[in-house]
Amino acid sequence: MNRWTRRKSADLADVAAGQRLKATLSWPHLIALGVGAIVGTGIYTLIGVGANLAGPAVILSFLVAGVVCACAALAYAELATAMPVSGGAYTYSYAVLGEGIAWIVGWSLILEYSLVVSAVAVGWSGYAVGFLKGFGVDLPLALIAGPHAGGLVNLPAILIIGLVAGLLALGTRESATVNAVLVVIKIAALLLFIAVALPHFDMAHFEPFMPYGFAKHDDGGTERGVMAAAAIIFFAFYGFDAIATAAEETKNPARDLSIGIVGSMVACTILYVVVAGVAVGAITFTTYATSPEPLALILRELGQGRMAGIVAGAAVLALPTVLLAFLYGQSRIFFVMARDGLLPSSLAAVSTTRGTPIRVTLVTAVLLSALAGIVRLDEIAALANAGTLAAFTAVAACMLVRRKRGEVGSTFRTPAAWIVGPVAILGCLYLFWSLPTRTQLWFLIWNAAGLVIYLLSARRAPAG
Ligand code: ALA
Repeated sequence: MNRWTRRKSADLADVAAGQRLKATLSWPHLIALGVGAIVGTGIYTLIGVGANLAGPAVILSFLVAGVVCACAALAYAELATAMPVSGGAYTYSYAVLGEGIAWIVGWSLILEYSLVVSAVAVGWSGYAVGFLKGFGVDLPLALIAGPHAGGLVNLPAILIIGLVAGLLALGTRESATVNAVLVVIKIAALLLFIAVALPHFDMAHFEPFMPYGFAKHDDGGTERGVMAAAAIIFFAFYGFDAIATAAEETKNPARDLSIGIVGSMVACTILYVVVAGVAVGAITFTTYATSPEPLALILRELGQGRMAGIVAGAAVLALPTVLLAFLYGQSRIFFVMARDGLLPSSLAAVSTTRGTPIRVTLVTAVLLSALAGIVRLDEIAALANAGTLAAFTAVAACMLVRRKRGEVGSTFRTPAAWIVGPVAILGCLYLFWSLPTRTQLWFLIWNAAGLVIYLLSARRAPAG
């Protein structure tokens, strides 16, 4: 059989016993895992970047990105309940579209998960360093920034990844419980922001509403517009896909996965649009458009310094949940690729005592902390978005192909699939087109490299 088009069984019964993950999660864990992965750097910091590109119309950017993500989430829910094995978009593509596309999707997912982990770790390091400074602890520049920013290595970013990896290796259920507590903290901080800023709401701050137009266009060297902002804001919405990578560790996947994916996505979309609306209505957007901590800055400008401190403190405490979910997702994707023989099979070992893939978790953590120690934050979010958009497009396509083949027997069926699927695909393509041109180029280079590796390895190991 042609290696490129051969398809994999997504039936758990076909997985060797020593390579099976332990099922310990139920839907409250999954909603917490989803919200933990979704609410993070995007809403806490990129809202300022978005306002800088779109003006007050950044709330439209939130809506566009939210609708596209909601459609992709429905497709994910249908596939995750039909194929409750680990690996997410990579696994679905392998089962529906064949090995070649699965490899490209897996390769794009590595971009998504690795860059999100690195970006959030570096972002967290910035918050943590500022937080420590507030207590008089001043760390030397050499240890808090990569070479691009005049430092040597970003030690806090490396340490936080190590800490989260240690927790994950300990056990999936333990990690999910810690995650649930931190999720409550960061949602409470956003609700606090809404409560404090809402009384200052003034419609005058929405004028002029769309100063930079709708479609992406070059504005003095910066690509602006509602869609340019939406392509970046998209970062804030994803993370629900990490739930799909937990399928195999879910006790009742048919019910829990759809509740977890759709539930966390809907909750976050509502929360984001409210936070964005309140932020834009509170003060003129130019005040916080370039701030690394826009929500705290808005509260300070409103004369609420103590509340600003609480929101910033909650961010330091709770942003690692995003790391937890994405590091988890990345280790599971590497794990399944190894189980499929696309990566060294030694990475597919599961610890007999804990039921978790400790080896691949630690290897992933070492790789990503090396990256986080030296990378620059700008552009990373955009590149992570490119990888995610590719994966979401593939997932929506998988859903439509399965339907066309009449393979739909899952307990969760996406309503109006022939509208939701194309909206997800076209929306993702439009968002991809709206990304900075440099990012698009990097994405193509990354995937071209992946394809060369695949074709070379295919030549060495022809299909059996
Ligand atoms: N949605 C995640 C965040 O905003 C990636 O940090």
